[in-house]
Amino acid sequence: MKNTVISTIRSLLLTLLVVSPLATAQLKDDENPIILLSEDQSFHFELLVPLSEAVAGGADINPILAAAKNLTAGDFDSWTEVFWELANQTKAQAEDPEIAYDAFNVRDTWFSTATYFRRADFYLHGNPDNPLINYFWEEQTAAFDKAMAALPVPGQRLQIPADNFTVEALWFPVSNYSDVKRPTIILGNGYDGAQEDLYHTFVVPAHARGWNAITYEGPGQPKVRRDQGLGFIPDWERVVTPVVDYLLTNQSAVVDPTRIPLLGYSFGGYFAARAAAFDPRISAILLDGGVWDAYESSYGVLPEEAQTLLNSGNATAFNELLDALIKNPETPTTTRWGAEQGIWSFNAKDAYDYFQLVKAYRVEEWIDKVQVPTWVADASSEGFYPNQSMQVAEALGDRATYHLFTGPSAYHCQTGSYQDLNRVMHSWLNKVLG
Ligand SMILES: *[C@@H]1O[C@H](CO)[C@@H](O)[C@H](O)[C@H]1NC(C)=O
Ligand SMILES: *[C@@H]1O[C@H](CO)[C@@H](O)[C@H](O)[C@H]1NC(C)=O
Ligand SMILES: *[C@@H]1O[C@H](CO)[C@@H](O)[C@H](O)[C@H]1NC(C)=O
Ligand SMILES: *[C@@H]1O[C@H](CO)[C@@H](O)[C@H](O)[C@H]1NC(C)=O
Ligand SMILES: *[C@@H]1O[C@H](CO)[C@@H](O)[C@H](O)[C@H]1NC(C)=O
Ligand SMILES: *[C@@H]1O[C@H](CO)[C@@H](O)[C@H](O)[C@H]1NC(C)=O
Ligand SMILES: *[C@@H]1O[C@H](CO)[C@@H](O)[C@H](O)[C@H]1NC(C)=O
Repeated sequence: MKNTVISTIRSLLLTLLVVSPLATAQLKDDENPIILLSEDQSFHFELLVPLSEAVAGGADINPILAAAKNLTAGDFDSWTEVFWELANQTKAQAEDPEIAYDAFNVRDTWFSTATYFRRADFYLHGNPDNPLINYFWEEQTAAFDKAMAALPVPGQRLQIPADNFTVEALWFPVSNYSDVKRPTIILGNGYDGAQEDLYHTFVVPAHARGWNAITYEGPGQPKVRRDQGLGFIPDWERVVTPVVDYLLTNQSAVVDPTRIPLLGYSFGGYFAARAAAFDPRISAILLDGGVWDAYESSYGVLPEEAQTLLNSGNATAFNELLDALIKNPETPTTTRWGAEQGIWSFNAKDAYDYFQLVKAYRVEEWIDKVQVPTWVADASSEGFYPNQSMQVAEALGDRATYHLFTGPSAYHCQTGSYQDLNRVMHSWLNKVLG
């Protein structure tokens, strides 16, 4: 019995390493448009995230490249340690009164501190009882709030009541004064990203173009998952509708009700489509990228033997196999992290339960209810939802504008190319909403 399991695992690892169906997340060298920052492709991608955020004040460049130098590929603890140390160092600078003499220093230093604490948390969710999961989040939240308070027009942290949970949101008006109704973009993240990340990715570029912005998190997402213990829910209009209510009532003096697009980032491409299908007040949606069927994506990255066990319905055997794969440092990091993060963010009992829950996240049954202009971003090196943007765009027909990012912008979510991302999406918004 034990021998069979070991030989199954051995052959699985061979499958993973040789003819990886993870070609999706494990790109071949010629599919990587830039030099690699780590031989661990997942670390490489996750290092590009804070580098991308540096463009809009969320980090500095060399501290991240120095962190990259200290990482051990496949070693999640090394990631946590390296970013924790960097966060501590940056926090010490933020607390230095000589540095904190002006608002610009304050926000720069605290925004970077917040980013580094969020990074420290990234590979940590395998043990949901690890106290660092909440500790890092308290640190990042406190740091981000100090930075936000020092902006020329301070952002505000909000709790918006929904039916039986609370939406976490951040409101970023362009101006302190309520003299003009402006277009206002609603921004939602996906499987793992935080709303604070969206500030650097989308809010700063939106402000530069005269747009208000609001970010939010619902069940399954960082703060709601921690504070309220809730995993993802598929009927996402329950999350976004209260946000739209807030804009149209509490912020009616500054929000143009005819120009309220909703952007969904990464797995958020599912959430944004779902919300627009059931809330006609949303004026347009931006899906980066399109998500047709999240199960297909989660299932697709499993090696064949694991797929067979999953299909057999033997939860015990499937969980044993996944457990062994997760523990084995030879398994590609994306697979190990993807399963751990999925179990945590769906608040699932185990891996088998997670794979059952994720089946509900498919758009085919209701996608025809989406009646608003839709921008669907695809990426030629898309690793997580390959081909799904095209499926969504085809189902929407005339309502969709499909855009394929290539070259240096070819990564999932245009990571590393946020200027390109924002100029292309704003040129579309300008065309459809003026
Ligand atoms: C990297 O390692 C060096 C040498 O051990 C250490 O001095 C430095 O603080 C580390 N930097 C980061 C960001 O981990
Ligand atoms: C960061 O600072 C805390 C104390 O504030 C300390 O407990 C922790 O060990 C430090 N972490 C690293 C990696 O230096
Ligand atoms: C906006 O209001 C805040 C206080 O709420 C103030 O600190 C800030 O200086 C104001 N900014 C501008 C540009 O008027
Ligand atoms: C929106 O306005 C209502 C009525 O003034 C208020 O009760 C509510 O707390 C406000 N919502 C938020 C999230 O601030
Ligand atoms: C919250 O509401 C949803 C839908 O109305 C329901 O399915 C769920 O069980 C409720 N959860 C709690 C904790 O009451
Ligand atoms: C499920 O797999 C376990 C081995 O992990 C085995 O002991 C058990 O008999 C299997 N159950 C069924 C119903 O096949
Ligand atoms: C995506 O589509 C291309 C061509 O349309 C096909 O060759 C490829 O196998 C598809 N990939 C997946 C993962 O479905």
